[in-house]
Amino acid sequence: MAIKRNKVVVVGAGAVGSAVAFNLVVQGICDDLVLIDINRDKAWAEATDLQHSLAYSNRNMNVRDGDYAACGDADIVVIAAALPFVKGQTRLDLTEKAAGIMRSIIGPVMQSGFQGIFIVITNPVDVMAYYVYKLSGLPARRVIGTGTALDSARLKYYIAAVMKVDPRSVQALCLGEHGDSQVIPWSLVTVGGKNFLDILEDNRDRLQGIAIDQIAHNTSYISYKVMNAKGATTFGIAATTVEIIKAVLNDENKVIPVSTMLQGEYGENGVYVGVPAVLNGDGVKELMECRLSQREMAEFKQSVALIKEYQAKLGE
Ligand code: LAC
Repeated sequence: MAIKRNKVVVVGAGAVGSAVAFNLVVQGICDDLVLIDINRDKAWAEATDLQHSLAYSNRNMNVRDGDYAACGDADIVVIAAALPFVKGQTRLDLTEKAAGIMRSIIGPVMQSGFQGIFIVITNPVDVMAYYVYKLSGLPARRVIGTGTALDSARLKYYIAAVMKVDPRSVQALCLGEHGDSQVIPWSLVTVGGKNFLDILEDNRDRLQGIAIDQIAHNTSYISYKVMNAKGATTFGIAATTVEIIKAVLNDENKVIPVSTMLQGEYGENGVYVGVPAVLNGDGVKELMECRLSQREMAEFKQSVALIKEYQAKLGE
């Protein structure tokens, strides 16, 4: 009996898509990896360059460029196609153009016979994940946006820097829009099991001047500074995407704050937004409905309302 190979297709071989592909190769996550891009030469160049690293990979992978027919037997299709970042724009400002890109991609992917799981990176990711869900006709659990997983990784990093601990020892997450209206439920943030606000309270002398507003601002706005300086963000979003891919391919039941469809949770329906979800081989297994303070819930509702406003602009 032949062992089933697992296969990931990355649509969009730009800075983000190629960083995702390189991450997959370095970690040896899948057996087959295909890069698709509207610029076929770019997809070929990125795939060929990656092939030259395979002698050092810890998995005998098949890496190539291809067309949408390659999606038919894929387990995961990653959507990283996007227009270049424009200084001064918010992610939500990209909605109309990004929607046009999704329309040009999802049809051909579904025509290939794809019945796997979409992982959407393209911003505004909450609105685009919702749109891919609508365009593909797949069950909501099989269309996942990277959501606030990257923001949560940034939040852990900045708290760890203040605390001088390993970011992996920080339990923290962001909720809501992957964007300016995201919410940090500080009541849920712990370091080594101790609430972060209690740590600040108990260590005012040592941690004086640590303002959670500054940490929140860094978490939310640092991406603009990086994008202004290098034209895009790549490594954080690539590592985030690969964590989601691993949770699916390895059937991990791992909890990651991704952009997923609310169907009654938090009192909301029919909207894709960043909340912690249990991810496994079937996609989203279930959502974690966090207990938020009144203020945190109010901020979350504002973020959801903003996403809904842009989702509505997509039309049916
Ligand atoms: C960022 C992009 C992926 O936050 O939205 O880096």
